[in-house]
Amino acid sequence: RNMRKKIIAGNWKMNKTPREAIELINEIKAEVAGASCDVVVCPTFVCLSASAEALKGTNIKLGAQNVHFEKSGAYTGEIAADMLEAIGVEYVIIGHSERRQYFGETDETVNKRTIAALAGSLIPIVCVGEVLGEREAGVTREVVCSQTKLAFRGISADDAKKVVIAYEPVWAIGTGKTATSAQADEVCKIIRDTIKELYGAETAEEIRIQYGGSMNAANAAELLAQPNIDGGLIGGASLKAADFGVIVRHA
Ligand code: G3P
Repeated sequence: RNMRKKIIAGNWKMNKTPREAIELINEIKAEVAGASCDVVVCPTFVCLSASAEALKGTNIKLGAQNVHFEKSGAYTGEIAADMLEAIGVEYVIIGHSERRQYFGETDETVNKRTIAALAGSLIPIVCVGEVLGEREAGVTREVVCSQTKLAFRGISADDAKKVVIAYEPVWAIGTGKTATSAQADEVCKIIRDTIKELYGAETAEEIRIQYGGSMNAANAAELLAQPNIDGGLIGGASLKAADFGVIVRHA
């Protein structure tokens, strides 16, 4: 068994007002107290300050759902790494497939955001994954290899180790269709081999790779038992404290 500490992160997506976020955090707190893995919640930007306050003294870390790559200036509507860091954010999701699909995120901007997050002392959770057509065309390997290589362009081995990679097959997100644990592990292994190619065996052994896509209280145990899966990036099930708690206890 490897030495990697498991990490369970809740991606709340565009849900919850600040008041509702505090309520959910208070429920989750009780569920995950004493967890042996890293636990992260990622509310919307407007909920981050209130969430940081509610998380004080708990074992739960705070993450954002995106970060801009410029440090400051005329970028209306954007938020920089330093600003997140200043209010107690420690993690940031980068390149989620919804951002790639709906908001013009590219491998290049994912790379820039990852570099900016690391420069601002945030831990990036970099998302990669194939769409259904790519899986059916048999090009999953090529897609995730290329996304991974481009995301890490210009990043040192020391920085690379800090990054968490989330493998999210796009066809499994919010669809109730989970990848089988064998399918998920196979692609996480492909990603780990890509990191090995880029940085060597030690970095590949240390870096954490999550699975995401309809992970829930019922299927988490099997997914998290796979040798290359070091945690989960949870959408829908992270909005239910009891389900999120079950997943955390399986990690
Ligand atoms: O980032 C988490 C994610 O996209 C999975 O969402 O709702 O399928 O767990 P869900």
